[in-house]
Amino acid sequence: MDAVVKFTSQSQGRDRILRATQYACALSVYLLRNNPNNKDLVAKLKSLESNMSAGRKLFRLGNAINSIEAAKRTMQLSDRVLRLCLTAANVTRAVYFICDNALWARNVGLILNIDKERWSLNAHRFYFLSLVMNLTRDVYNVLHLMVQNSRDKQFRRKMNEHLNESPDVAEVVIPQLDASLYLLLHTLKSHPAVSLDTLKNVCDLFIPLDRLGIYPLNAGVVGFCGLVSSLIGILTLAQPALRMKP
Ligand SMILES: *[C@@H]1O[C@H](CO)[C@@H](O)[C@H](O)[C@H]1NC(C)=O
Repeated sequence: MDAVVKFTSQSQGRDRILRATQYACALSVYLLRNNPNNKDLVAKLKSLESNMSAGRKLFRLGNAINSIEAAKRTMQLSDRVLRLCLTAANVTRAVYFICDNALWARNVGLILNIDKERWSLNAHRFYFLSLVMNLTRDVYNVLHLMVQNSRDKQFRRKMNEHLNESPDVAEVVIPQLDASLYLLLHTLKSHPAVSLDTLKNVCDLFIPLDRLGIYPLNAGVVGFCGLVSSLIGILTLAQPALRMKP
């Protein structure tokens, strides 16, 4: 079991690079689609994109076990909200990988009697749920940090200075709004790991929203969001200080 977990965490870097390439291809295909001179290039990029996607599936075979192990760990967290969000995120992520593995087995002909459409839809549903739980965790973390900041004396002084600097907006409602916004921006700026994780999850969310038909987007937006989230993924892998814990 440990070997599987070790191997899959090692292959995370490779998966993120393949994923970034996959979405960069999708975005390029979208941008080049209208120019007839680029027909050959577009065909090549499309084939590269589907190769990347297929290659990633092979390396993701152990990920369900990895997610279950992660769920066991997050079940020990002392913060109730974090425990609930992260355990739910990891369990739904495990189910997503099981669907994904089954689809892979179907594609290579190991199993034939599963309904591809239905399993694919279920995979996207569980991926979506996992992201929603992750985003809930992000929002909870941001609110928590905002409360902490607002109790900090030094921070309050700075905020009051900032509010006094702009007396023209010092009406009744606006200062409240301004203060909250200032607090939010300050919190995001001083906790890059939280901001990056939130941005990554928001970008990721657009992909299943589109696939599930909840919020259809054009292929360019999906490619762009996938690319941004993959690049953040690579960045946080290379710079562990930018990774959100737990
Ligand atoms: C949710 O967050 C966990 C921990 O940060 C991460 O390992 C997982 O990949 C995220 N889930 C999705 C679907 O991105």
